[in-house]
Amino acid sequence: MAIKICGTGSYLPKHRVTNDDLSEIMDTSDEWIQTRTGMKARHLVTEETTTMMSAEAAKLAMEQANVSAEDIDLIIAATISQDYIIPTLSCEVQRELGAKNAVAFDIGAACSGFLFALNTAYSYLKSGQYQTALILGAETLSKMMDWEDRSTCVLFGDGAGAAIVRNMPDEEGIGIESLVQGSDGAKGMVLACKGRPVKNPYVETEEERMSYVTMDGQEVYKFAVRTVPKAVKEAVEKAEVTLDDIDYFVLHQANIRIIESVAKHLHQPIEKFPTNLQECGNISAASVPILLDDINRKGLLKKGNRIVLAGFGAGLTWGAAVLTW
Ligand code: ACO
Repeated sequence: MAIKICGTGSYLPKHRVTNDDLSEIMDTSDEWIQTRTGMKARHLVTEETTTMMSAEAAKLAMEQANVSAEDIDLIIAATISQDYIIPTLSCEVQRELGAKNAVAFDIGAACSGFLFALNTAYSYLKSGQYQTALILGAETLSKMMDWEDRSTCVLFGDGAGAAIVRNMPDEEGIGIESLVQGSDGAKGMVLACKGRPVKNPYVETEEERMSYVTMDGQEVYKFAVRTVPKAVKEAVEKAEVTLDDIDYFVLHQANIRIIESVAKHLHQPIEKFPTNLQECGNISAASVPILLDDINRKGLLKKGNRIVLAGFGAGLTWGAAVLTW
């Protein structure tokens, strides 16, 4: 038996915004953003919705996996920026696709969301309860940014990534080999979005700004460079392989300096760490599946390649997986 990613897809909004474009509307520069993050551009929605981007990514993944909407019996969407609080993104995507045989629910684990969705789908598929899962990481972060706070808004983008995960009873030696995940709620407020303004007459309303993302960048940086190498090593050990056996490390695209630091800590060449943050910025739960789709469609992933996926972020949360393609 193998539980395997059989298809990937992604969608980026049409509207591309460069660092220079941002410097026209706020006090920032291409030099500041590139030096500290590696980012050159991001794509931001103008007409797209989280549902629409997810459905487009899903259709590409389904086509590649040769799976119809009726074949899907589980949809898990990882997001912190769905179109509505209710109905959930996963139910909206179910409607868009006509995946009438699926059970659908969302997972909120921020930048680790896709890894948490993969782990959840894996557990369901392994138990035999479902056979074919659509997992999504999709975000419209531009609506959660304080566009007057240059220290956060320049870092993030919008987009969606999808994967079809299937239980393949007759295939051995491929698929998901190990999964690890963790959380540390005690440090949660270093990266927060406290919520919608409250209009309850019995509760004092806090100022409107609290509904946008706030971040202590240096604390998040320290958390990431400490936690990600540990999580990756744990996943690799659990899979009973070594770091040298890994062909690609597909990490959450928060910042090029975090990725370089992880590569250094793991004593692995930076060439094994594909990136797309230069073009996409940080898309939270969508970063890992969009990058996975990028390298898959570029033909970099060959059958038998072993890859690590790793996500980390708000919560704080983290997750890593080892799989053979
Ligand atoms: N343009 C120009 N100047 C800016 C900008 C900007 N967009 N943003 C902040 N500055 C200024 C600040 O005002 C400050 O100026 P001052 O020294 O006059 O006060 C100066 O730049 C330095 O600010 P810092 O916040 O100290 O900058 P730092 O070097 O820490 O870099 C950064 C900030 C890039 C966010 C860094 O802390 C980092 O990489 N953190 C990792 C966090 C991360 O990646 N978060 C992503 C979301 S979480 C996740 O996905 C895991």
